Amino acid sequence: MPWKRKPFVGRDVRAALNIADLREAARRSVPGFVFEYVEGGAEDEVTLRANRDAFAALRFLPPTLRNTEGRSLATKLFDAPCGAPLAIAPTGLNGMLHPQGDIALARAAAAFGIPYTLSALSTTLLEDVAKQAGGRLWMQLYVMRQREIAEDIMRRAAASGYEALLFTTDANVFGSREWDRRNYRRPGRPSRRAMLDTLRHPRWLTQVLLRGGIPRFRNLEMFLPPAAVSAVGGSTIIPQMFAPTISWNDIAWVRDHWSGKLLIKGVLTVEDARRAVQLGCDGVVLSNHGGRQLDHCVAPIEVLAEIATAVGKHLTIVIDSGFRRGTDVAKALALGADAVMIGRATLYGLAAAGEAGAHRALELLTIELERVLGQLGCRAPRELGPNLLRVSSRAC
Ligand SMILES: Cc1cc2nc3c(=O)[nH]c(=O)nc-3n(C[C@H](O)[C@H](O)[C@H](O)COP(=O)(O)O)c2cc1C
Repeated sequence: MPWKRKPFVGRDVRAALNIADLREAARRSVPGFVFEYVEGGAEDEVTLRANRDAFAALRFLPPTLRNTEGRSLATKLFDAPCGAPLAIAPTGLNGMLHPQGDIALARAAAAFGIPYTLSALSTTLLEDVAKQAGGRLWMQLYVMRQREIAEDIMRRAAASGYEALLFTTDANVFGSREWDRRNYRRPGRPSRRAMLDTLRHPRWLTQVLLRGGIPRFRNLEMFLPPAAVSAVGGSTIIPQMFAPTISWNDIAWVRDHWSGKLLIKGVLTVEDARRAVQLGCDGVVLSNHGGRQLDHCVAPIEVLAEIATAVGKHLTIVIDSGFRRGTDVAKALALGADAVMIGRATLYGLAAAGEAGAHRALELLTIELERVLGQLGCRAPRELGPNLLRVSSRAC
């Protein structure tokens, strides 16, 4: 009989060898409709796939016989020390994946000395994250028609010591995640199949739903109509409340309410990056929202070099969407990013095992990044440069 490779099947995150293994553990740990919420992309998921394919088109050109002893991932972001050139991206509804939700992710980030970004749609109060997790905290902002909601979040985040505000700009017109929508009879009402599937995940049912109740949008609930407060009902109602009028003219309004670092998330063109410089922003996050918004969108890694060349001296450049390996992170750093934001990779860890799982995801990514750094003859992230990369015309 031919030898067959055996994929990862366990649940023990310590045995997971890579993010794909953690994804498998996550898939088995939560009901299908919860996993689909994390996993899915918009429409035909072309952007979702393209985010991964774009990395495969970039190949390393490694120099050899370099002394790589004493390698370190330590770097600086906004002049403050950072354990690695990484940050955790804002993701809403983390409490649906694990009862510890945002606290678990923020604690894992703090253990690695990297920033954690709390979503405006989080299921934990921003004050509780600051008190219970600590570390370096960034706050994400969505602007709703009711401007006082955003003003309240900015005021409270500043009072709780959040260092930076990430103003997300690519979700004002919300993407259609069709596979996610199929799991609901109507907005906020899971299908019968989805409800039955929760019975096959008794641990999740007990820990998340029965013990804690359906997670709620804790930072917004005082402003929301009752039907929009719960994570299941609100996830479809809240996007309809986003302000479609929001534009670059509103950066001055944000600045009136926020004096900390300001990053614009969702930038993909040189023109927009230049505008961010002109308006006094501190950074940009090149992102297509992990393929969840506009289908057939460029992958951020494809536009990184041109944006870094145009504005890299004036702005901190952060990038996300599709990062699952240390090699992916190394490619972005080589093309001019200051840091990479991790979205689904740490969510897989969270869904599989809470804080220990999120910690394992960061451990895997940093081990891989440290290894590739050495394989490329470098000792520090700043030594990575575009000379180490070549665009391949062949897909993998
Ligand atoms: C489940 C999920 C929820 C998300 N929620 C938010 C959010 O509330 N605010 C935001 O700015 N981005 C949100 N994003 C986008 C992430 O911040 C990030 O851009 C994306 O996950 C990066 O792609 P990756 O998951 O492939 O790493 C979400 C992404 C996921 C997967």
